[in-house]
Amino acid sequence: MDFFNYRNNELYCEDIPAARIAAEVGTPVYVYSKATFLRHYHQVADAFAPLGATICYSIKCCGNVNILKMLAREGCGFDVTSAGELFRALRAGGDPKKIIFAGVGKNDDEIAAGINAGIAAFNCESEAEIENIDRIAGALGKTVVGALRVNPDVDPKTHAKTTTGKKESKFGVDIDRAERVFERYRSLAHFRLAGVHTHIGSPVLEVQPYVEAAQKVIDLIDRLTARGHKIEWFDVGGGFGVNYTSLTQAKPVSEHAKLLVPLLKNKPYKIAFEPGRYIAGNAGIMLTRVQYRKTGGSKHFVIVDAGMNDLIRPTLYEAYHHIWPAKIRDIDTPGSRTKDAPPADAEVVDIVGPVCETGDYFALDRRLPPTQRGDLLAVFTAGAYGFAMASNYNNRPRPPEVLVGGSTYTVIRKRETLEDLVRPEEA
Ligand code: LLP
Repeated sequence: MDFFNYRNNELYCEDIPAARIAAEVGTPVYVYSKATFLRHYHQVADAFAPLGATICYSIKCCGNVNILKMLAREGCGFDVTSAGELFRALRAGGDPKKIIFAGVGKNDDEIAAGINAGIAAFNCESEAEIENIDRIAGALGKTVVGALRVNPDVDPKTHAKTTTGKKESKFGVDIDRAERVFERYRSLAHFRLAGVHTHIGSPVLEVQPYVEAAQKVIDLIDRLTARGHKIEWFDVGGGFGVNYTSLTQAKPVSEHAKLLVPLLKNKPYKIAFEPGRYIAGNAGIMLTRVQYRKTGGSKHFVIVDAGMNDLIRPTLYEAYHHIWPAKIRDIDTPGSRTKDAPPADAEVVDIVGPVCETGDYFALDRRLPPTQRGDLLAVFTAGAYGFAMASNYNNRPRPPEVLVGGSTYTVIRKRETLEDLVRPEEA
């Protein structure tokens, strides 16, 4: 559940009309709801509270430092995947003891930054990386702790580009090879391999792939323990799906917990999760204005002022984002976030951006109430991997980010300017 609702035929984020933000800040703009962020974070934390689990928000999905501050204040930890994300986590006041550093290709500087920050652990993805971390820790005169990321070889039934836990993936090591890796690095001088990590993919709508993966890892940890390895934690990863197409598409995290908690309860090791999308996905929308209408053959185009550079998910993953006018008529369904409840006079349109690529679209053959130049559209479920994946392609300044809290809002990232575009080139 989120706090984007229609009142008197107008879209509100919490207690502020979306149209007001668009008028005052301009479009395109990302709008986040504080209450939704917090609600989703607490849903996850509460669902896994019986495990005493550490929740490490995956910064990659939506990493504005003001959002991280808000989550850090709630006691949330962070999953970081680059020096930049580590920097953000620390800048936001994140507790280093709740920061884990993931990623298949951490460079030496990133590893050193993690060690110097005193983070909780590195999630390691290869033998070569383990040796490198040991070497760097030695040079810094420190000892560090890490987990081995294993591929449990389960199918998360999601998009090929975001499937990560299969044998053939570039991530982690085969679960069959894991014991050999633990044996080989049993007594490194500066690195203690003491945890197991998985992340099977994203978004995952079913519970079963998690159960299957968790069971395989539990069995692995039992075998490792029998061989005398002391395993201190199991990081189950992230990936919990959210509602893109309907309000019942994804399971609430409590449903995942129903099966995962009994499986993971009373283990002699700690449990961690790394959710990103579940917390941020429906906590953000992107507002964009209709620029022009045109036809091409049998196609009707609605050209908006946001482009694929602002939100790349539709074209990169064929992702569905519900798109609806911010102001509706009495005959329209209010923001039903469903494919099959259009008004009777709906048009079938392609909603496209201004970027010079045919792939620059947000929706193809979509039923939408009639729109005209100047109308404001909301692109829903854009909080995760929305702004985070935005670029300056076509030299478009990236949009601002706004955080709404009740009846006030704050611009938490300014719109980039034309000067911002050339500044790094004018040394
Ligand atoms: N942990 C690890 C190791 C990950 O690689 C990811 C996401 C997460 C946690 C968080 O997953 P989440 O809970 O947010 O699903 N850009 C794609 C998603 C890429 C996911 C990358 N890794 C998209 O827009 O769908």
